Amino acid sequence: MTKLRTTLAAGAAALAAFAAPLASSQPAGKLKVGLMLPYTGTFAALGTAIENGFRLHIEELGGKVGGREVEFFKVDDESEPSKATDNVNKLIKRDNVDVLVGTVHSGVAMAMAKVAKDTGTLLIVPNAGAGAVTGPMCATNIFRSSFSNWQPGYAMGEAVAKRGHKNVVTITWKYAAGDESVGGFKEAFEKGGGKVVKELSLPFPNVEFQALLTEIAAAKPDAVYTFFAGGGAVKFVKDYAAAGLKKSIPLYGAGFLTDGTLEAQGADAEGLITSLHYADSLGTARDNAFRLAYANAYKLQPDVYAMQGYDAAQMLAIGMAGAQGDPNKKAEFAAALQKAKIDSPRGPFTLSASHNPVQDIYLRQVSGKENKVVGIASKSLADPGRGCKM
Ligand code: BEZ
Repeated sequence: MTKLRTTLAAGAAALAAFAAPLASSQPAGKLKVGLMLPYTGTFAALGTAIENGFRLHIEELGGKVGGREVEFFKVDDESEPSKATDNVNKLIKRDNVDVLVGTVHSGVAMAMAKVAKDTGTLLIVPNAGAGAVTGPMCATNIFRSSFSNWQPGYAMGEAVAKRGHKNVVTITWKYAAGDESVGGFKEAFEKGGGKVVKELSLPFPNVEFQALLTEIAAAKPDAVYTFFAGGGAVKFVKDYAAAGLKKSIPLYGAGFLTDGTLEAQGADAEGLITSLHYADSLGTARDNAFRLAYANAYKLQPDVYAMQGYDAAQMLAIGMAGAQGDPNKKAEFAAALQKAKIDSPRGPFTLSASHNPVQDIYLRQVSGKENKVVGIASKSLADPGRGCKM
């Protein structure tokens, strides 16, 4: 009897040892989500809004995606490209995350995308618009819930040409986001008959605008196009008005110029026209529900960054349902997203073949504390996704 018991126990142990690898290949335990976002610096508020939006949807899902409870890990990337590879490796190697969600800054996102591509880790970008992420770096496991820098820029280039302006000066930070936003604007504006007569820039995240504003005053263009965001956008709008330029030279921008910033910009932002894939006054049932839920949860109004974080969580849930809760099933994860119409507060959108949103770009005008829709600058605009070969 004792011998039989010993034999059975040994058999069970052998079976368990054999079964262990099989069991571990099944989805089990918590799904580890690594948030790599800026929590300090000029984009700190953007990172917090993205996390808020992301967590809001995960809570709506009862804390689970693909049948698995979500566990969060966080890194402050400081919008610092030189620290990006180390930071993303903290999440992948130290915390063993299954999915990366990040980030805001294009330079940091490109480093994240490189690591995600090399390691095969799922990555959902909830803001940074770097063209490379859905261009040359595109991959089965890399997705974006936001926009490409080209999209709002291109839409605004068309709109400013239609408004009859002929000579425009551009001003931005000298890095991928600024360059690509201005590039999109210039492409459409010059196609529409205008001319970009001067391209001004300063290093990110510098906000010493005075000398450049003096150059704009001297050039006397018909209008100015700009890309700034976060704390830098607040200061630029205030400095532009203080220099007396707001009265004489119309200022247009990608909508980050006035999104999440209006409290701080006050009257200096009043009337500004921008282009973006979101606005404060869409008035749809879907957006109203999102805005109410966000306001209840955080006692704050949501902005474009909160909406993009929310949609990153929606995309994760869709992908994980398609992959039956297994983040290693990347082809299934991607196939589910590729055929999805994502029910976003911005309006429904699909993903392009390179995994960037195909979406309407609204024309908005600041009125009081809101970016109000005044039209659609570009309907179902797809990024060209240049150089993507999956
Ligand atoms: C970017 O670096 O891609 C970016 C940052 C803030 C707002 C929009 C884009």
